[in-house]
Amino acid sequence: MHPNLKSKVMSAQEAAALINNGEVIGVSGFTGAGYPKVVPAELAKRGEALRAQGQEFGISLYTGASIGDECDGVLARAGIMKMRLPYQSHTDVRNSINKGTTEYIDMHLSHSARLIRMGFVPKPTVAIVDACEVTPDGKIYLTGNGGNTPTYLLTAERIIIELNTHYGDTLIGSHDIFIPELKGTVPIHFAGDRIGKDYVQIDPAKIVAIVETNLPDSLKAFAAPDDDSNAIAAYILEFLAHERKKGRLPADVPYQSGVGNVANAVLATMAKDPTQAPVALYTEVIQDSVFDILEADKLIIASGASVSYTLDGQEKYKANAYTKGWKNKFILRPQEISNNAEVIRRLGVISMNTALEADIFGHVNSTHVNGSRIMNGIGGSGDFARNCLLGFFMTPSIAKGGKISAIVPMVSHTDHTEHDTMIFVSEQGLADLRGLAPIKRARLIIEKCAHPSYRPLLQEYLDYGLKHSALHAPHTLSKAFDFHKRLMETGSMMG
Ligand code: COA
Repeated sequence: MHPNLKSKVMSAQEAAALINNGEVIGVSGFTGAGYPKVVPAELAKRGEALRAQGQEFGISLYTGASIGDECDGVLARAGIMKMRLPYQSHTDVRNSINKGTTEYIDMHLSHSARLIRMGFVPKPTVAIVDACEVTPDGKIYLTGNGGNTPTYLLTAERIIIELNTHYGDTLIGSHDIFIPELKGTVPIHFAGDRIGKDYVQIDPAKIVAIVETNLPDSLKAFAAPDDDSNAIAAYILEFLAHERKKGRLPADVPYQSGVGNVANAVLATMAKDPTQAPVALYTEVIQDSVFDILEADKLIIASGASVSYTLDGQEKYKANAYTKGWKNKFILRPQEISNNAEVIRRLGVISMNTALEADIFGHVNSTHVNGSRIMNGIGGSGDFARNCLLGFFMTPSIAKGGKISAIVPMVSHTDHTEHDTMIFVSEQGLADLRGLAPIKRARLIIEKCAHPSYRPLLQEYLDYGLKHSALHAPHTLSKAFDFHKRLMETGSMMG
């Protein structure tokens, strides 16, 4: 290591001691990939100790999206996370938000970097970044995420690097770092286009600490796809084949697939389908299911904001990065580019996201249980849903063993309006709502997507509205939340 950099090498504890009460910390990391793994734990210990002595200690934490327990979990449990943006999915962070300890700004992932650069929220004072390589002239080569990391590196006053050897050099060259001008265009015309550099250029004088590590991203293995996920995947693939046959779907449109088991199952099913042509992904999170597509020789390119591989997946990638040329199949971008409205619209992305609940008229709640308790956040679902060529919202028709219906009369919180949703899929079936007015949409969703045990209650609600309300979107406000009221009062939407 160059002497200028070597002089900055220190322990995680020493690096954490450089962070003060009230700082705004921008960390690398997107959907469990590429987040700092050792400095936050020391910061949490320091914050707890200071608080135990009666001193104030709290920080704001900005990320790309959800990150691992070694950062989100430790800071939330220490009670020092005062503010958090733009997305999380950690139980302890969620609890801290719902308790009121952490203020949370849940925002479209593509918006966050620009809002920070424009100063609508305070710029980070310190960036903590997981990196594969740092050069004396200030080139930072990132690990498994583009995320908001370039913006944090460029806007923070001080930078702490966690220099992580886990991925070796297998991710060097995978990044395409491009920061758009405020009103500039993003000239991507194909999912595989490269428009930037494979590193972030910073002023090396801003580096205050380098902490050496060799730690993987701690992502757990996915559950094997269950019957519901397989059924949802099958409906989607059957529908896409039908659209292609009708000549309504160009062969070369790329796919976006959201987070979680269902999304993973859809891609895994695609890989197994002998009729499936090679695909390009223009997505935000690249999960292990991409290996199935690669191994089936059906991956043209996977472009995303992160490679969120499980522990096994990380080893698999490293083993094949050079030997099978997998390294050349991935492009990692900042999330304002992976989720960029202009590019998603131009490429004609097919988008697949999961809903927490949807209502009979096609509005979607992705974020708040019973309208008030945050689950995760909107993530990139809105970036893709509004701008895609073809958009699916997927959800099992029931949750909690049938006590909750995912299809309700009126969503208790709205993330995606009827104007941004197109096709709903549950294990019961698929409802293509494009071109339908509200009453027809409601009939189709009840018939195709609702669980049979909830269909009569939903139909009763619609029928009552048809009889007593205006006939455009016949809601009955006095009854619209009966499902949710019954859930709160009796523990079941059925009553
Ligand atoms: N009301 C209350 N709880 C519900 C529910 C509902 N309508 N629907 C599901 N749940 C519960 C499940 O029971 C489960 O609870 P558990 O963790 O205690 O088992 C939990 O919510 C997660 O549901 P699951 O069916 O396992 O779905 P998932 O892991 O695929 O997550 C979302 C679903 C909606 C929470 C998740 O996809 C999300 O956060 N989406 C928003 C962001 C997004 O779409 N990003 C995509 C681009 S990144």
